[in-house]
Amino acid sequence: MKLLVTGGAGFIGSAVVRQAIGQGHQVVNVDALTYAACLDNVASVADAPGYAFEQADIRDRAAMDRILDSHKPDAIMHLAAESHVDRSIDGPGTFIETNITGTYTLLEAARKYWAGAGKPESFRFHHISTDEVFGSLPDDPQVMFTETTAYDPRSPYSASKAASDHLVSAWHHTYGLPVVMTNCSNNYGPFHFPEKLIPVIILGALAGKPLPIYGDGSNVRDWLYVEDHADALLTVVQKGEIGRSYNIGGENERTNLELVQTLCGILDRLRPGAAPYAEQITFVTDRPGHDARYAIDPTRIREELGWRPSVTVEEGLEKTVQWYLDNEAWWRALQTREGVGQRLGKAG
Ligand SMILES: NC(=O)c1ccc[n+]([C@@H]2O[C@H](COP(=O)([O-])OP(=O)(O)OC[C@H]3O[C@@H](n4cnc5c(N)ncnc54)[C@H](O)[C@@H]3O)[C@@H](O)[C@H]2O)c1
Repeated sequence: MKLLVTGGAGFIGSAVVRQAIGQGHQVVNVDALTYAACLDNVASVADAPGYAFEQADIRDRAAMDRILDSHKPDAIMHLAAESHVDRSIDGPGTFIETNITGTYTLLEAARKYWAGAGKPESFRFHHISTDEVFGSLPDDPQVMFTETTAYDPRSPYSASKAASDHLVSAWHHTYGLPVVMTNCSNNYGPFHFPEKLIPVIILGALAGKPLPIYGDGSNVRDWLYVEDHADALLTVVQKGEIGRSYNIGGENERTNLELVQTLCGILDRLRPGAAPYAEQITFVTDRPGHDARYAIDPTRIREELGWRPSVTVEEGLEKTVQWYLDNEAWWRALQTREGVGQRLGKAG
């Protein structure tokens, strides 16, 4: 397939690009190269014959029209977004513009392109979203997010993603655009931007800094290894049913405190310090509106598309820690970017 991937220079998009090229697909990577992007993430495939890069903003309708007309993709995998919850608390405007207006602009460009091609049913607009649109769950293992859970977003980030999900669904029902949608739990793995929790902990531990845990660390997330997410997305874009949404989870619920303690234990083995890294853990003021628990019921994608995560969180975290130990030049360069290493999103 020829896949147009938006946000392909980011964390998850770059994993999709690398895997898609590895599977023999052609890829057009469309990315505006914001602060969160890094073209090194796709350096391993940049010279592949099936790979093309277009620096463009999804809010730029003329650019989207030109790129679609010139590359003629079979499917669009839409990952470009502002993605950091803490930044959305400090400055929601760009989240509204990129995640909502940008998705609208891309949908309209896709609709024109698809109509111009004779409305082929084989075309796909795959919208990649988050489980955060469903809000917060009680502390009850029987209760999980399913594809029919009512939307209840709590942060500017999740509200902007929820709005984009509704737009995609509306473009399917109103215009017949052949869409598929996915809502995924928290990702981690190689190339994760150093402002997100797991790299913050790994790099903070190595630097001998306090390891900040929001609130009391009891918030629960369902952790998914990024390569497993990319595999799930490539499964859905090829096999997903038109108009259907799929929840993707790692089957790996952990509290933030458990997660950080696991990371410290892995670091103690792989890069022993003078004292156990867990001694650096410090509890800091909670994020406003911090959701208590996210958990995904992945029954639909498992039973209908035969997809399951391939690694446990312990296996994935070990690979991730090793990757950060082996790729210091990558993360050192990104630590100099604006806002990285600062506590963001405290404003109530
Ligand atoms: N990270 C997670 O745990 C997670 C979980 C579920 C869903 N998601 C969703 O997956 C997608 C990718 O997340 P990520 O963590 O890789 O994000 P990221 O912040 O690492 O990457 C986003 C990419 O989008 C690009 N981008 C931003 N604004 C753009 C614009 N206006 N035009 C073109 N490109 C633009 C950036 O340059 C960057 O390369 C997002 O839609 C996010 O909501 C993320």
